[in-house]
Amino acid sequence: MAFRGIILQQQLLLGLLILTATTTSQPHSSCINRCGSVSIPYPFGTRDGCYLDKSFLITCNHTFEPPKPFLRHSNIIVRDISLDGELRVSTFIARDCYNKSGTSVIRKRSGSVLNLSKFPISYTKNKFTALGCDTFVIIKGRAQGQNYTTGCISLCDSIESVNDGSCSGIGCCQTSIPEGVANFSVSLGSFTNHSAVLDFNPCSFGFVVEEKEYKFSPSDLKNLENIESVPVVLDWAVGNETCEVAKRNSKSFACKAENSTCYASNNGPGYRCNCSSGFRGNPYLLYGCVDVDECKDSNPCAKKCNNFPGGFNCYCPKGYEGDGLKNGTGCRPTASKSKIVIIALCISVGLLVLLVGGSWIHWGLKKRRLIKLKEKFFQQNGGLLLQEKLSNHQGSVETAKIYSAEELEKATNNYDENRVLGQGSYGTVYRGILLNKKVVAIKKSKIGSQSQVEQFINEITVLTQVIHRNVVKLLGCCLETEVPLLVYEFITNGTLFDHIHDKGQSFLLSWEKRLKIATETAGALAYLHSATSVPIIHRDVKTANILLDDNFTAKVSDFGASRIIPLDQTELSTLVQGTFGYLDPEYFHTSQLTEKSDVYSFGVVLAELLTGKMALSFDGPESDKNLAMYFVSAVKGDRLLQILEDHIVEEGNTKQIKEAANLAKRCLNVRGEDRPSMKEVAMELEGLVIMEKHPWEKANVCTEETECLLSAPTQSFSIDVGTNCSTTTTAGYDSMEKQVLKPLNDGR
Ligand SMILES: *[C@@H]1O[C@H](CO)[C@@H](O)[C@H](O)[C@H]1NC(C)=O
Ligand SMILES: *[C@@H]1O[C@H](CO)[C@@H](O)[C@H](O)[C@H]1NC(C)=O
Ligand SMILES: *[C@@H]1O[C@H](CO)[C@@H](O)[C@H](O)[C@H]1NC(C)=O
Ligand SMILES: *[C@@H]1O[C@H](CO)[C@@H](O)[C@H](O)[C@H]1NC(C)=O
Ligand SMILES: *[C@@H]1O[C@H](CO)[C@@H](O)[C@H](O)[C@H]1NC(C)=O
Ligand SMILES: *[C@@H]1O[C@H](CO)[C@@H](O)[C@H](O)[C@H]1NC(C)=O
Ligand SMILES: *[C@@H]1O[C@H](CO)[C@@H](O)[C@H](O)[C@H]1NC(C)=O
Ligand SMILES: *[C@@H]1O[C@H](CO)[C@@H](O)[C@H](O)[C@H]1NC(C)=O
Ligand SMILES: *[C@@H]1O[C@H](CO)[C@@H](O)[C@H](O)[C@H]1NC(C)=O
Ligand SMILES: *[C@@H]1O[C@H](CO)[C@@H](O)[C@H](O)[C@H]1NC(C)=O
Repeated sequence: MAFRGIILQQQLLLGLLILTATTTSQPHSSCINRCGSVSIPYPFGTRDGCYLDKSFLITCNHTFEPPKPFLRHSNIIVRDISLDGELRVSTFIARDCYNKSGTSVIRKRSGSVLNLSKFPISYTKNKFTALGCDTFVIIKGRAQGQNYTTGCISLCDSIESVNDGSCSGIGCCQTSIPEGVANFSVSLGSFTNHSAVLDFNPCSFGFVVEEKEYKFSPSDLKNLENIESVPVVLDWAVGNETCEVAKRNSKSFACKAENSTCYASNNGPGYRCNCSSGFRGNPYLLYGCVDVDECKDSNPCAKKCNNFPGGFNCYCPKGYEGDGLKNGTGCRPTASKSKIVIIALCISVGLLVLLVGGSWIHWGLKKRRLIKLKEKFFQQNGGLLLQEKLSNHQGSVETAKIYSAEELEKATNNYDENRVLGQGSYGTVYRGILLNKKVVAIKKSKIGSQSQVEQFINEITVLTQVIHRNVVKLLGCCLETEVPLLVYEFITNGTLFDHIHDKGQSFLLSWEKRLKIATETAGALAYLHSATSVPIIHRDVKTANILLDDNFTAKVSDFGASRIIPLDQTELSTLVQGTFGYLDPEYFHTSQLTEKSDVYSFGVVLAELLTGKMALSFDGPESDKNLAMYFVSAVKGDRLLQILEDHIVEEGNTKQIKEAANLAKRCLNVRGEDRPSMKEVAMELEGLVIMEKHPWEKANVCTEETECLLSAPTQSFSIDVGTNCSTTTTAGYDSMEKQVLKPLNDGR
C-alpha cells in the first residue's frame, strides 16, 4: 500500500505543478469571457484565475438583465474593452439642482469621485464638461504624482443666447484633461442659486465624457436631468514597468503570444502587447496571435495569392508580369525576353537607318545643291548656247571639249599658286596637267557681266574654229564655275617679248628666226581677219601675246579682248582696249575699231623685232619713248641702221631688213587707210622669207603657207590644207606677190 501511496502523492504533486504553471500567467479554460453584451478579453476577467491581476477584475452583476459588468468593485459600468488598451466605461454625471426658493434640492455626487487606480482617463479622447447657465465647476485630482486643480465657468442669460454645439462658456464649457489622471473629484457651484435661469436651467452639471460621443445641445440644459451617465474612455496597460524591463522576467511578461510585440503605454506607467503585423488575436494569450489569411480576408492580389504566417505573396501566372497587387500594377501579359530583344533590335536598327538615311539625305542635298549651282553657272555662262553651237559644228571641224570643274581643279592642283603661268588683264593662266598627262594652259577669266555671255560664247565658238598652226589652240572650256575657264594648248618656250628683251638670250634670236616669227604672226592675224567665217580683230597684238614653241614657231594668243566683227560692218565702236605702245592712235582717238588697228600693233611688233627696243621705254630722250614714232622717224631720216639690233645685221640681209623696216613703217601709218591690210603684210613677209632663203634662185623649198597660197589661192588661208608641200614654185618674190595678192583682194 505504501507503494500505492507514493504513486498517489506523486500524481498530486504533478497535478499541483501543472496547476501553478497554468494559473500564474494564463486564464483558466473555464473562464467566461463575456458579461452581457460586453466581451471581456484576458487580461480582464470576472473571477479569480481569469484575470491577470486584481486591477483587471470585472464584476459581472447578474441581478441585472442583461448582466452588467462593473470595474472591480466600483459602480463604474464597463461598456467595452478593447485589446489595444482602451476601456470604455460609464460615469455618473455630477449635478446640483435648485427649487424656486433657491435651495439645492438634488446634489448628486456619487460619480463625482472616481478612484480608477491603474486606469487613467484618456487625455486624448475625453473632455471635462460643465453645463449650466449659473455654474462653476472645480475639478481636483492627482496626475503623475502631482495635485492639480482646474475649473470651468458656464453662464447664460437666456436659452436663445446659447449656441448649438458650441462649448465655449455660454451654457456649456469644456476643458481638456491632463495626462495621467487616475482619480479626481468634481465640485459644482452656483453664483445665484440659478434664481435667474431657473425656468430653463435649474441644474448645474459636471462630468467627463468621450468627446466624440457627446454633442452639446441647448436642450441639454434641462434634459440632462434625466440622463444618468455618460461614456468615458480609460487607458489601460499591464504592469508598472517598461517593455524592456518586463521582458527580462519572461514569467511575468504579459505578451505571451508568439509573434507579438510590446509597446509602452501612452498614458501613465506600464506596457501593452500587440500581435505582430500579419497576425491578429489576443497577444496576452499563449496562442493568441494567429496568422491573418489576407488572401481570404481582403484578397489584395489581382490574380494569384499565397498566404504565409505573417504575410502574403501576390504573384502572376506564367506569361504575366507585374507586382500582382490590385492596388499596384496588377498582372499584365508579359513582353517576352526575345520580344524585348527584337524590339530593342528594331529600335536600334531604326535609329541606325534614320541616322544613315539622314546623313545620306544631307549629303545628297548638299551634292544636289552643288550640282544645281554648277548647272546655274553653266547656264549663266552660256553653256547651253555653246553646246548648241558646238553640236552644229560637229563633224565639220575639231570642236572644243567642255571640261568639268573637278577635272580642271585636279589638273591645276586646286589652282595652286605655283601653277600660275601669267596674269593678264583678262585673267590668270595656270599650267594644268589633264588626266591623260596632256599639259595645258588653263585661263581663269575675270568675272564677266551677264550681258557679255552671249558674246563670250560667240568668241569661244569662233575660236574653236580657228585652227591655225600659229594660233594658240583653244581646247575647250568649263562653264560650271562662276568664272568661265578656258583650256588652251600649252606653249613651251615663253613669249616673244621675253626672247627679245632678255639680253641673255636675245642674241639667239637671229634675223632669220625673227622674220619667220613675224611672217607666222602676220599670217595668223591675216587668217583671223579674213579667213574665218566672221572676221576677228585681236585688239591686243604685242610681243607678250606671241608665244614660241621649242622650234620658235609663233603662236598668237590671248583673244580675251578680241572682237568679232559681223561681215556687214568694217568697223566697230568699242571701249578702247589694248596695250599702250601698241595701241593704234587712230582707234585711240575715234574708238572705231577696224582690222587696221591690229596692223598698227603688228607694225610695232615688227619694229620691236628689228630694233630690240621696248614698245614703250622710259629711258632715253623724250622722242625715243614711243618706239613706233621713234622707228618711223628713224626710217624716214634714213637712220635705220643706227637703230637696228646689232647682231641681226649680217652680210646679205640688209635688203631684206630694209624691206621689213619699210613694211613696219607702212603699218605704223597714223591713218588706218594708209596701212596695208594684214594679208598684204603677210604676203610681203612671205616674199621676204623666200628672198632670204634664195634671194636670186627659183625656190625649190617652200614654207607651208606659201604652198598653201599657191595651191589654193581663192581659199586663201585654208586651215585644212598646208600640211603637204608637193608643188614646187619657181616664182620669184615679185611675181609671187602679184600672183597671190590678186585673188585675195578679190576675195575680200
Ligand atoms: C448587484 O446589484 C444589486 C443592485 O444594485 C446589488 O444589490 C447587489 O449587491 C449587486 N451584487 C454584487 C455581487 O455586487
Ligand atoms: C424647496 O425645498 C426645501 C427643502 O426641501 C423646501 O423646504 C421648500 O419648501 C422648497 N420650496 C419650494 C418653493 O418648493
Ligand atoms: C443659496 O442657497 C444656499 C443654501 O442652499 C443659501 O445659503 C444661500 O443664501 C442661497 N443664496 C442665494 C443668493 O439665494
Ligand atoms: C482606490 O482603489 C484602490 C484599489 O482599487 C484602493 O486600494 C484605494 O484605497 C482606493 N482609494 C480611495 C481613496 O478610495
Ligand atoms: C494633495 O492633495 C491631498 C488631498 O487631496 C493633500 O493631502 C496633499 O497635501 C496635497 N499635496 C500637495 C503637495 O498639495
Ligand atoms: C487619488 O488616489 C490616491 C491614491 O491612489 C490618493 O492618495 C488620493 O487621495 C486620491 N485623490 C483623490 C482626489 O481622490
Ligand atoms: C510595481 O508593481 C509591483 C507589483 O505589481 C510592486 O511590487 C512594485 O512596488 C510596483 N512598483 C512601482 C514603482 O510602483
Ligand atoms: C512567429 O513566431 C514564430 C515562432 O517564434 C517565428 O518562427 C516566426 O518567424 C514568427 N513570425 C513572424 C512573422 O514574426
Ligand atoms: C497593433 O498591431 C496591428 C497589426 O499589426 C496594428 O495595425 C496596430 O496599429 C498595432 N497597435 C498599436 C497600438 O501599435
Ligand atoms: C492600397 O495601398 C494603400 C497603401 O499602400 C492602402 O492604404 C490601401 O488600403 C490599399 N488599397 C487596397 C484596395 O488594397
